[in-house]
Amino acid sequence: MRILVTGGAGYIGSHTTLALLEAGHDVTVLDNLANSSEESLRRVQELSGRSLDFIKADLLDEQALEAAFAQSRPEAVIHFAGLKAVGESVAKPLYYYTNNVVGTLNLLQCMDRHDVRTIVFSSSATVYGASEQVPLTEDMPMDAVNPYGRTKEQIEDILSDLGTADPRWRVALLRYFNPVGAHESGRIGEDPTGVPNNLLPFVAQVAVGRREKVMVFGNDYSTPDGTGVRDYIHVVDLAAGHLAALDYVSGQAGVYRWNLGTGNGSSVLEVLAAFSKAAGREVPYEFTDRRPGDAAVSYADATAAQRDLGWSAKHSLDDMCRDHWRWQEQNPQGYAGA
Ligand code: NAD
Ligand code: WQD
Repeated sequence: MRILVTGGAGYIGSHTTLALLEAGHDVTVLDNLANSSEESLRRVQELSGRSLDFIKADLLDEQALEAAFAQSRPEAVIHFAGLKAVGESVAKPLYYYTNNVVGTLNLLQCMDRHDVRTIVFSSSATVYGASEQVPLTEDMPMDAVNPYGRTKEQIEDILSDLGTADPRWRVALLRYFNPVGAHESGRIGEDPTGVPNNLLPFVAQVAVGRREKVMVFGNDYSTPDGTGVRDYIHVVDLAAGHLAALDYVSGQAGVYRWNLGTGNGSSVLEVLAAFSKAAGREVPYEFTDRRPGDAAVSYADATAAQRDLGWSAKHSLDDMCRDHWRWQEQNPQGYAGA
């Protein structure tokens, strides 16, 4: 299939692009490189032994989008492009709503004009908000607690309304839990700009000596060891979930929601222990106050994806830490060191 991957130079997009190429699909990546580097795509081509087309363009540029569709003539779109930093979204809501929501509207209008109505969208477990009820199931109400999360909620609503209005649409809304890890080659991985917002990249940068210690946000939650519990999922498993979802909607029109998680929770201290083991060195940490807006516990009910897609996560927390560490150790400055 000819697939347009928006945001394909980014962390999850590059791993999924690799999986698509390996499965024999033809891929065009459209990315404005706002939070990524073309080096990831060079390495994806090197790993797969196949070439892809890259179009540097912004979803807000309707003419560029039109030209990209005319040039690549996709049959389906996998839509990763978006801004994802929660704190930044609170400080710059207009920037987030414009980039994520208006960018997606431009994309959907262009798809419609070109008779392309198959889309796999990167949603997030963040749409469940601060729900303390676990495991989280797809039928629970959306109740995002920050602008970033609300962009995901709004895009889900838009796609759902579109599916209701026009039954030709084939829509997969994938709610990722906490993506971590890297391709086992160590050649591609997560390359955050500035101070990482998320736990794993922060831990990895401490382990490699770029930062002094991890600040653990709260040790007084009502969890077994007092620290926050999350459903970490290996990015390679996540990539496989996209191929399975694309397959499903290719065979069946409609709008579908699936959690992509392992169904298991790990605490911050468990992650630190697993990462220390993987890196063969202690990762120094210190407890500090809770981070506002954080839930104590979040993990998926992953049975719907298993039932409908035949997909389930294969990698353990140890695998995630081993692969994340291999990427970090081989690329201490990320792609900038290339
Ligand atoms: P990422 O920042 O590495 O990738 C996003 C890509 O989109 C980047 O390459 C960026 O340059 C590009 N982009 C952003 N705005 C664009 C625009 N207007 N036009 C063209 N390109 C644009 O992030 P990621 O971790 O790979 O996340 C991919 C998607 O998954 C995002 O939509 C994110 O919100 C969602 N998601 C991520 C996580 C996570 O923790 N990583 C969890 C749940 C959902
Ligand atoms: C994980 C755990 C923290 C950093 C975020 C977004 C969510 C989704 C995934 C995109 C929590 C603790 C963290 C640190 C810490 N992204 N922590 N010290 O908050 O579950 O989800 O990323 O959709 O929308 O909100 O992930 O990696 O930030 O935190 O103690 O330096 O680690 O409190 O318990 P989170 P995270």
